[in-house]
Amino acid sequence: MRVAIDGPAGSGKSTVARAIAGRANVTYLDTGAMYRAVTCKCLADGVPVTDAERVADVARSIDIRFGQDHRGQTVHADGQDVTAAIRTAAVDRNVSAVSAIPAVREAMVERQRKLGAEGDVVAEGRDIGTVVFPDAEVKVYLTADPAARAHRRAVQRGGGDAAVDANATADAAEEQKVLDDLIRRDQLDSTREVAPLRPAEDAVHIDSSNLTLEQVVDQVMGLIAAARAKEAVHA
Ligand code: DC
Repeated sequence: MRVAIDGPAGSGKSTVARAIAGRANVTYLDTGAMYRAVTCKCLADGVPVTDAERVADVARSIDIRFGQDHRGQTVHADGQDVTAAIRTAAVDRNVSAVSAIPAVREAMVERQRKLGAEGDVVAEGRDIGTVVFPDAEVKVYLTADPAARAHRRAVQRGGGDAAVDANATADAAEEQKVLDDLIRRDQLDSTREVAPLRPAEDAVHIDSSNLTLEQVVDQVMGLIAAARAKEAVHA
C-alpha cells in the first residue's frame, strides 16, 4: 500500500501523513525533509545552491536517515542530527532552488522509491502521486488557503501546533513573513520545469482550510479502507 499526499507548503501534509502512519500502520516518509537535508548540507559546507553540479554531488553522496525520539521524527545527515537545522528560515529560503535541480530530484526519487519498495508507506511531498509513486493506491492533493497555511507554519515555528490547538496564536510580523515566503515558494515549486507541484489526475482533492486534523485524517482513512477492500477483492 502506497499513500501519496501532495500539496503546497503548510497545507497540513506532515501532520496528516504522521497521523495516517500511526492509524493505518504504515511508514511515514517525509520527502521534503530529504530536500531540506541536502540544502542544509550545502549551506553548512559553503556549496552555493546555484552551483547545480556541486549541489547534485551533495545529493548523490549524502547519507540521510530517519529516526524517532521524544521530539518525534528525527533526521540525520552524514551522521549529524539535522532535525532542527533543516527547519530554519535559511533552509526555507534556499530549498526551492535545490529541489529544482533535475539531478537532485533524480537522486532523491531513487531513494524514495527504494524506501517505498521496503513496505507500506505514506509519503508526502510535491511529486509523490505524479512522479515518485504514479501507481500509488491512494492519492491525495491537500490544499488550504495561503493565510491558513501561513498561520499554521508561524505557530509551528513558535513551538505550537495549530492543527491540535485551534486558538494558537503567532507573532503577526512573523506570520506575514511566513506568508510572503510561502507565496514565493508556491510560485517557484509550481512553475519549475522538473516535477512541478501539481495534482495527479487521479488524486482526491481535500481543502483543509476549514477542516480539523481529525476530519482530514478520517477522509484519508476512508480512502485507504476503500483501496484495501479493492486489493482484497483482487487478491
Ligand atoms: O514540504 P516541505 O516544506 O518540507 O518541502 C521543502 C521543499 O522541498 C519545498 O519547497 C519543495 C521541495 N519538495 C519537492 O520539490 N518535492 C518533494 N517531493 C518534497 C519537497
